[in-house]
Amino acid sequence: MIPSKKKPKPVMRHLLAMESLDKSAINYLLDLAEHFAATPSHDPSICTALCGKLVTHLFFEPSTRTIHSFEIAAKRLGTIVLQPNMMNLSTVKGESMIDTIHTFEKMGTDCFVIRHPDNFMPQFIAGELLGHTHIINAGDGYNQHPTQALLDLLTIRQHKTTFENLSVCIIGDIAHSRVARSLVEGLQKMGTEDIRLVAPQIFMPEDIKNLQVTATNKLNDGLANADVVVALRIQKERIKNSVLPDVNQYFQSYGLTQERMTHAKPDAIVMHPGPINRDIEIDSQVADGPQSVILQQVKNGVHVRMAVLHTILTQSDPS
Ligand code: CP
Repeated sequence: MIPSKKKPKPVMRHLLAMESLDKSAINYLLDLAEHFAATPSHDPSICTALCGKLVTHLFFEPSTRTIHSFEIAAKRLGTIVLQPNMMNLSTVKGESMIDTIHTFEKMGTDCFVIRHPDNFMPQFIAGELLGHTHIINAGDGYNQHPTQALLDLLTIRQHKTTFENLSVCIIGDIAHSRVARSLVEGLQKMGTEDIRLVAPQIFMPEDIKNLQVTATNKLNDGLANADVVVALRIQKERIKNSVLPDVNQYFQSYGLTQERMTHAKPDAIVMHPGPINRDIEIDSQVADGPQSVILQQVKNGVHVRMAVLHTILTQSDPS
């Protein structure tokens, strides 16, 4: 049933960053996500697949899409999901993060799904585990959001025949975006060479030269003949010292409108990881228009997270 007969299952103790996935592992996960999407949820191969496993969510930042799609994905595969109220955790009484992790490990957690405002927190936790527990990074600071990149790649694959010849334009607050970093890495692994990052200078990452992309401050240049257009929100929660742009001015220069979309290819798709800030980075006509695949991204999120949980939690135990 699971499409592992043709392609070997990737070895995955954790999913911390796109760096750990090669093209074949990405294709395996996207194929498995498609398999889960096409199989009725009451099929025993799905609803009992991870029976007896315990998945614990630790979200130290707000989330609508990621936390709930992980919950749905884990429950559809038959796991128990522990979703603690973060305000009632003993971390607020001074317990350290690692003591909290060890406590949940001893209660039987098989896999943690972690979102944290600090870069590399899931990687740090992965180095401090007591047992063969698994970690999935659900977004760390402005570093990585690997399951978002996987669902973005699946959405692109459903609309475009190849990654190799695509022109992809990512617009907005790139500097504070873990989504942009993860997607650029994922696209490059799949063979996409023409990636344009469009942002005002204050939202360009300092390490832009290391990313092997085209960077521009001019939206129409970035959009020219693009196949895929990705709009990003301004990550206000991560902007500490620099002055935020006036939102009306920002929309005038970088807002994705119908008129601006005429610079992209007529069959270009419009993506956004969510949450959307309408009339700041994207006009409602575009967000809700025929080229938008934003809600398809949301739907794919459930199946991609099923694929990741299934792949990680069915690895053979080394003990
Ligand atoms: N795309 C994304 O991570 O959305 P949430 O913050 O709602 O999880």
